Amino acid sequence: SHAHWNVEQAQKGGFDHFMLKEIYEQPEAFSKTVVPHVKDGLPNFERDEIPEDFFENRRHIQIVACGTAMYAGTVGKNLIERFARIPVSVDVASEYRYNNPIVGPGDLVIVISQSGETADTLAALRLAKQKGADTLGVINVIGSSIAREADHVIYTHAGPEIAVASTKAFTVQMAVMFLLALELGLKNGMIQPDECRSLTDQLLDCRNTMEQALELTKTVPDIVEKAIDCPSLFYIGRGLDHALALEGSLKLKELSYLHSEAYAAGELKHGPISLITDGMPVIALATQQVVLPKTVSNMKEVKARGAKTLLICRESETVDADAYDFRIDLPEAADEFMPFTAAIAMQLIAYYKAVQSGCDVDKPRNLAKSVTVE
Ligand code: G6P
Repeated sequence: SHAHWNVEQAQKGGFDHFMLKEIYEQPEAFSKTVVPHVKDGLPNFERDEIPEDFFENRRHIQIVACGTAMYAGTVGKNLIERFARIPVSVDVASEYRYNNPIVGPGDLVIVISQSGETADTLAALRLAKQKGADTLGVINVIGSSIAREADHVIYTHAGPEIAVASTKAFTVQMAVMFLLALELGLKNGMIQPDECRSLTDQLLDCRNTMEQALELTKTVPDIVEKAIDCPSLFYIGRGLDHALALEGSLKLKELSYLHSEAYAAGELKHGPISLITDGMPVIALATQQVVLPKTVSNMKEVKARGAKTLLICRESETVDADAYDFRIDLPEAADEFMPFTAAIAMQLIAYYKAVQSGCDVDKPRNLAKSVTVE
């Protein structure tokens, strides 16, 4: 009805879609999540009533989730292994629950969920508890089923997410994983408090880099129009960029219905490169300094076979101009902080492609915000 239309317009607060509004809410959601969890420069989970020793003596950690939350978990694995040197496995909840997981007392199982109601994630949590593991939920919706059943909960403070495709919930999930990685690193003696303080300073500063990255709304529409004009494409990246490539590719297929695959850049040559034909878009994330030259050489390999490449990297990066056709620049930050702005670039690419194709951005076909069936 007309009245309903007006209410919805008002709720969108001047934005064309909830998704774009929620993309813009990220810097604030980020601060609301991170600031209360930092005390004297160190991660702090007192407000969540998590006992100090909960993060001590962990030898193995499992992360279980679905969809975008699982990709936040993949970023979490990279960060925990980097800072705490504790091995982490990441599982899709629907696989975990049916694969007789090897887990028991002393193990920490982290479930990540925006809604806290995803059936497979809830079942995985129950199984982990049954097997005697300690469980921690990273949840956005207060009082949700997973929040009630996990031994401990760290709430993300994204606020309500209306658009079906997850945006701000994802960035704050990554932020919590960052804090957890630092906490585990401290408890495991792998990082010292001074080093940790410098990292939390840089983490808090991501609010600003995220604000800056929102300026990409001015340039991304035009780039997307020119760069993505093919029914099928690839996202590539290494390390944290691979996790973000997976998330970017998921977002694009959810919203624009294009066929898209994400690959670890080094894996292209083991099969998928056979699909590269003239004009096929390849979106390459190269925000991780150590592996940047490797990813750039992968871009040249696909370009030599006709691919049209879109490079996403730091603005200060000098990259051989014949490696890419288009380029999106991200604000400066150390490698481990790049996922926060890379996520915004990924979201905007998917958002503008879907808008340009006339797709229902906020309610893509066949998808639900919260999947409470198996
Ligand atoms: C659905 C949504 C996805 C979401 C996934 C997990 O498939 O469409 O956007 O990532 O569920 O949801 P959760 O609420 O558990 O994070």
